[in-house]
Amino acid sequence: MTWWAKLFEKDEVEKTIFSPDGRIKCTFLLKNSQVFYFVSKDNKKVIEKSRLDLQIVGEEPLKNRLKLIRMRSSHHQETIEMPWGEDRCIDNTYTEAVFYLGETGGARRIYTLKFRIFNNAVSFRYEIPPQPKFSEIAIKNEQTEFNVSLNSIAWQIPAYQPDRYEYSYEKSSVYELQKSVHTPLTMKLPNGFYLSVHEAALYNYGSMTLKLNEDQILSSDIIPLSDGAKAHVILPFQTPWRLVMIADSCIELTENRTMYALNDPPSGDFSWVETLKFIGIWWAMYVGEWTWAPGERHGATTKHAKEYIDAAVRLGIKGLLIEGWNDGWEGNWLENGVNNKFSTPTADFDMDAVASYAKAKNIELVGHHETVGFVDNYENQLEDAYNYYAARGIHYIKTGYAGSMITIGGHKEYHHSQAGVNHYQKTVELAAKKHISLDIHEPIKGTGIERTWPNLLAREGARGQEYEGGALQPSHACFLPYTRLLAGGMDYTNGIFDIDNNVKRISTTLARQAAYFVTIYSGMAMAADRPFMYEEKFPQLFQFIRNVPVNFEKTHPLAGEIGEYYVVARKDRNTPNWYLGGVTNETGRHVHINLDFLDEGTYHAYFYTDADHAHFRDNPYALNLYERHVGRSDSLDIYMAPGGGFAIELVKL
Ligand code: NOJ
Ligand code: CA
Repeated sequence: MTWWAKLFEKDEVEKTIFSPDGRIKCTFLLKNSQVFYFVSKDNKKVIEKSRLDLQIVGEEPLKNRLKLIRMRSSHHQETIEMPWGEDRCIDNTYTEAVFYLGETGGARRIYTLKFRIFNNAVSFRYEIPPQPKFSEIAIKNEQTEFNVSLNSIAWQIPAYQPDRYEYSYEKSSVYELQKSVHTPLTMKLPNGFYLSVHEAALYNYGSMTLKLNEDQILSSDIIPLSDGAKAHVILPFQTPWRLVMIADSCIELTENRTMYALNDPPSGDFSWVETLKFIGIWWAMYVGEWTWAPGERHGATTKHAKEYIDAAVRLGIKGLLIEGWNDGWEGNWLENGVNNKFSTPTADFDMDAVASYAKAKNIELVGHHETVGFVDNYENQLEDAYNYYAARGIHYIKTGYAGSMITIGGHKEYHHSQAGVNHYQKTVELAAKKHISLDIHEPIKGTGIERTWPNLLAREGARGQEYEGGALQPSHACFLPYTRLLAGGMDYTNGIFDIDNNVKRISTTLARQAAYFVTIYSGMAMAADRPFMYEEKFPQLFQFIRNVPVNFEKTHPLAGEIGEYYVVARKDRNTPNWYLGGVTNETGRHVHINLDFLDEGTYHAYFYTDADHAHFRDNPYALNLYERHVGRSDSLDIYMAPGGGFAIELVKL
């Protein structure tokens, strides 16, 4: 319902929009042909006066002789349902205000700013309708400011780096953000509010990074194309939503699902999509037992694949990933990837035999495409490569884009540029047509498009356990829930039980490897170690991994601090059972868990916790396994050792 809609031409306008609960206030301001906004919560400043500006190549700045022509506002109340994920229901209740702006002279250009104010977020986007004088534009720059206090704390990873998003989080002040950092950028303001600046519905545009501009204000820096433009678009066009999540605590921040609400409903019938837990011909390559390339120690042979299929059956795990089955891994695969063939198995791998064996055993194969960033080579084979899998009843593909840049149209581009964004989107849409779900490694960050494309089940997009063996600190997984995971699930490759392996020493306790299945959500969840670690070494702990769901009814974050620890409870979507997980950094700690979120009744609780003297460095395997009955009036005291964690299964009786 429109509660105000006016037609006029005004030089100066200030209009305030409130969140449905009235706590967040966002003000739009047009002054001297410049557009600004500012935000407060409970009358405390969150974002001070910030400029909004789009610049088009070859055109005068859009802000000249800018007037407000019309504005309208409405309320929207809705609960949306997600087919899979951390929460089945997501609130989509907001106040919307749309400002139609136009030039009174010159090219008489027009554009629209659309705001949606939620109880936990402020969002807005630029919309450019077809113009009187042109219909195609190159965007030179988008200057969207997020004017937060320079003394805010920021937890950040750098942009424009060779390893894409695969970095450790650094804590700094906003004042130190002289170079671009990726979103979600999580911050704590001096007045205590927690913020995360991100974007939703990133399509056909460079992704947004953030840095201080020349006025020392935190501002958008859109990843450019090789020709320098931020995007080439045909009108009408709308930018992704600029999203500022706002919370009273960092735990409240982790509950924010507004990113999904800002995306469109599913674009078709996706009832065929199913979340998946899988093992893989994978970690054996990381610990040097097998190789991707053919040879004496080749991992992806027909024999190994059949053995792993049998193991998956015994373990009660539905899926199996096979890497290194196709032509292209010989020599230095990181450099030779331009020759990768996505429909040609190696001589010792019989894809037809493996696929029929998997089918007979009711195991879903997860196919693999490592592009090494040679996107042209991949796109030339894309349709055939997806048909190849579809014809063999393979419904899942893990893709990869190792390499510091991608090659598209003969040009070297950033993974996160408009060209990259469009390529990833092409794979998601083609996969949907073939009823294939994707797990994208070295992806474009999550912006909630899995609401529209539910077959995008998983992404990597952060430093994962492949970096163990020296480059992962115990604190890393305590940063993720408050930063990267605000952008959706992550394939962290959980469940490595071989902690003290010489090649890849793991910097966690054993119990924590089970905890990851709860603390790090993924629609495709990998139990990444070799089957014998699960069957022979630690079968009891593996029970948790077998039982933990991949699709949850709801999620209750319970306690934590950024980079310190994180404790969360999730309810299964298909049973009344609950799953709890916690992780801590280098500091051991006791956490108090009040079980009052449980339903009425008694639960049989299975505990998988660190023993008293466990330590990620010198006593990682010390595990406590015990059981007892609990109910909603109980509370728990759980110890997490340094670099440790815990998992608990609560089965309703
Ligand atoms: C990087 C991916 O993250 C990893 O999982 C994969 O094994 C390698 N690329 C090879 O494709
Ligand atoms: Ca990776």
